[in-house]
Amino acid sequence: METGPKRQEKYFIKTFGCQMNVADSERMAALLSERGMSEAAAPDEASVIILNGCSVRQKAVHKALSSLGLMQEVKKNSAIKPVIGIGGCVGQLEKKKLFRKAPYLDFVFGTDTIDNLPEIVHRVQNGERKVVYADFDPSMNYSTETKVQAYKAQAFVNIMKGCDKYCTYCIVPFTRGREKSRTIDEVVNDVARLVASGVREVTLLGQNVNSFGKGNENVKRREPIELHNQIGKVGPRAGEENFPQLLRAIDSDPRCAALKRIRFTSSHPLDFSDELIECYAPAEKGGVARLTANLHLPVQSGSNQLLQKMGRHHQIEGYFAQMDRLREICPDVGLSTDLIVGFPGETEEDFEQTLRLLDRVQYDSVYAFAYSPRPGTRAAKLADDVSAKVKNERLNRLLAHQLKISEALYATRIGKVMEILVEGEAKNQKMAGVPNGAAPRVWTGRTSCNRIVNFVSDSPRSLIGKIVDIKITSSTPLSLQGEWIHPEPLAEVLS
Ligand code: SAM
Ligand code: SF4
Ligand code: F3S
Repeated sequence: METGPKRQEKYFIKTFGCQMNVADSERMAALLSERGMSEAAAPDEASVIILNGCSVRQKAVHKALSSLGLMQEVKKNSAIKPVIGIGGCVGQLEKKKLFRKAPYLDFVFGTDTIDNLPEIVHRVQNGERKVVYADFDPSMNYSTETKVQAYKAQAFVNIMKGCDKYCTYCIVPFTRGREKSRTIDEVVNDVARLVASGVREVTLLGQNVNSFGKGNENVKRREPIELHNQIGKVGPRAGEENFPQLLRAIDSDPRCAALKRIRFTSSHPLDFSDELIECYAPAEKGGVARLTANLHLPVQSGSNQLLQKMGRHHQIEGYFAQMDRLREICPDVGLSTDLIVGFPGETEEDFEQTLRLLDRVQYDSVYAFAYSPRPGTRAAKLADDVSAKVKNERLNRLLAHQLKISEALYATRIGKVMEILVEGEAKNQKMAGVPNGAAPRVWTGRTSCNRIVNFVSDSPRSLIGKIVDIKITSSTPLSLQGEWIHPEPLAEVLS
């Protein structure tokens, strides 16, 4: 089918939700660019408007739907008369019901039909209305190739999709379907291709990357290890591919030699195996050399009573043991987590156990949310008995508590020299003391342990993708500031 555009057209994509959706939007943009389209700076310049929606909490759904309302106004007032579509977890879940809420909508697509986007756009641009592509792919395999737009130092690489954990509160298993993993060989080839195009940091993406490989026969018989999960074996079994093997395969592939950093997100305590913890050891002690010293391991609550009701299938003592072992192997590791407050039945004592968890683990940062019942989940059948007021109070107390911890942790970095990968120019150029655009400029990047670091440089060239040593001079609870240490003159460092 001819799917090329008639004239130079533009697309506008607005993204809600997690890094999965961010990566999916990048793929949508790349697919539309392959059709000859370019990105619009604002929706009123676009002939295709796409909202990539998130369903994880009611507020997120509201945001996507009210944005859809705004796009209707754009459609009414624009001379271009754009076609409007909604995708992501909202499209997947709501499907054609969305046309009732938004009759001006032209198409709906889901999380498994992103590659159909050019065809969908072609159909609606040729007069079809209310086109829906929101079925899950019934195949058990997952094979793809990462698409990135322009040269970037970092890339997201989907290594698996879906979620089989069915935590009682969570809609994601319904919006992303069953867990399916790519093969190790396919991911390594993909990463090698990205490295050849200039990528220096990859983030391996999935809802539970540490159950990667479940169901993939380990054809190359890479280390026939059995994963020692704390409770049960829900992830891959011996004879199947697994996540530590994937990390080692990327790290040891000669085509990935120029890769500086491997990150991953997200993971679940249940599949956080001893083998994975050992990957954090120094390279000379058998660790994965390029694995960054950070871990986002969602815990949700510090109370065993709530962990059980949430269907997390682990206890807080096991989580502490995992964190202690990790810190022993990698003392500088930067930790972060997700927390839910106000889950049904949460008492003041349960909540205080979550505060004590923060003191015990000492996270660099946390993502905390007020519980939001999601229709169709098991928890939605429980009485939502913590009032909105108490949920809000607990959320604020938790964030204030964590802010103090982050502040103290960040301040311990002052005076240290940290290696950072430069990601770009900082949005806020105040630190340079000169107007935006003029040299010197403020650059921003991250440490291996995922802390944001800003520094000023009068480099005439872009520093994106460079690894630089920064001496930390000051800190806030959210970021570090410092000075670039380069023993040779700048011109030599840049040459
Ligand atoms: N798979 C990842 C995990 O297990 O951490 C990500 C899950 S979800 C996309 C991100 C976070 O949203 C969860 O870790 C949880 O803290 C939060 N979340 C999920 N469902 C929620 C709900 N119904 N209400 C409030 N927060 C929720
Ligand atoms: Fe949701 Fe739990 Fe799956 Fe994470 S592990 S996506 S919280 S069901
Ligand atoms: Fe939202 Fe879907 Fe991510 S529900 S948090 S965009 S997986």
